[in-house]
Amino acid sequence: MPCTVVVGGFFGDEGKGHLVSYLAMKDKPVITVRGGVGPNAGHKVVFQGKTYGLRMVPCGFVNPSTRLLIGPGVLVNPKVLSEEMKLTGTENRLGVDNQCAIIEDKHIEEEKRNAHLTTKIGTTKTGVGICQSERVYRRAKVAREFPELSRYLTDVPLEVGEAIGKKENVLVEGTQGTYISLYHGTYPYVTAKDVCSSAICSDVGIGPTAVDDVVVVFKAFVTRVGEGPLENQLSEEELRKRGWLEFGTVTGRPRRAAPFDFKLAKRAVMLNGATQIAITKLDIVYPECNGVKSFEKLSDASRRFIDEVESETGVPVTLLGTGPSVEDTVDRRKL
Ligand code: GTP
Ligand code: MG
Repeated sequence: MPCTVVVGGFFGDEGKGHLVSYLAMKDKPVITVRGGVGPNAGHKVVFQGKTYGLRMVPCGFVNPSTRLLIGPGVLVNPKVLSEEMKLTGTENRLGVDNQCAIIEDKHIEEEKRNAHLTTKIGTTKTGVGICQSERVYRRAKVAREFPELSRYLTDVPLEVGEAIGKKENVLVEGTQGTYISLYHGTYPYVTAKDVCSSAICSDVGIGPTAVDDVVVVFKAFVTRVGEGPLENQLSEEELRKRGWLEFGTVTGRPRRAAPFDFKLAKRAVMLNGATQIAITKLDIVYPECNGVKSFEKLSDASRRFIDEVESETGVPVTLLGTGPSVEDTVDRRKL
């Protein structure tokens, strides 16, 4: 903090929802602002015993005093947004940038009919790819053209810029992951935009000199949903045995998985300019760490793994997830 950007270091679903909601509670940002592609990312937030599945509302919502913003780079589906605002009770503190492009039903229908996207690439059928291409054609409609969004409209870059100018804490929430970036990922098996830290900043209108910290989030193993290469992929049977089998939040599809990949991690640190690393699901690989909240109480094996990540990447591992709940977090930052 004051301006911290959180991004995914693998293929998405690293548990950014967990991390961002933890940071929103702990660092009390005045603003939590979301960058990324749009409602094709699903985050799960488990807070005080309740589980929320979110695709549009920033995961920082768990802190009732943070303003929630969606940057102009993000594609907005007003129906999804409206449902999630009701679910989270955040209508009075949520702002959408005037220039967010809007996903309409026709975009979703067109994507469903597009075999290249749905079968070859394995997209989420949420209309983002089509809407993004319409935006490039300058045909997509933007938020200010929709009366039902009028009460939420705002100038996100200005709100964020003013808060940073006053040295207030701002939390920037990225979505997806480094290796499904349109530029830096495993093309063509990628999402519709770049999603590395500089792109996330561009989505919300923050210049590179305004950022204090970039936290890259890894899972203790690698997962991938949809098509595309995944080195050292384990069989579904092996995943069941290890307890690593996950299902997608948006699509419900089983996620493929592989052991932690140091080579990918090192490159993700470079591509994102990471100053800190967070690792979630430590408890899945090291069950004895389940629910642990202090570094000293983590097992020797898990600490050896953390040391190895630090020595391979040269960046400190400051935050660890030890269970699905926001409270299950080890925080080693020097605050
Ligand atoms: P994307 O923006 O789609 O990349 O989402 P995400 O990074 O927010 O991750 P997502 O919520 O899709 O997946 C993470 C899953 O792991 C969720 O089911 C979380 O509840 C769970 N989870 C997150 N952190 C931890 C952790 O430290 N331990 C355990 N056991 N589960 C976790
Ligand atoms: Mg997800």
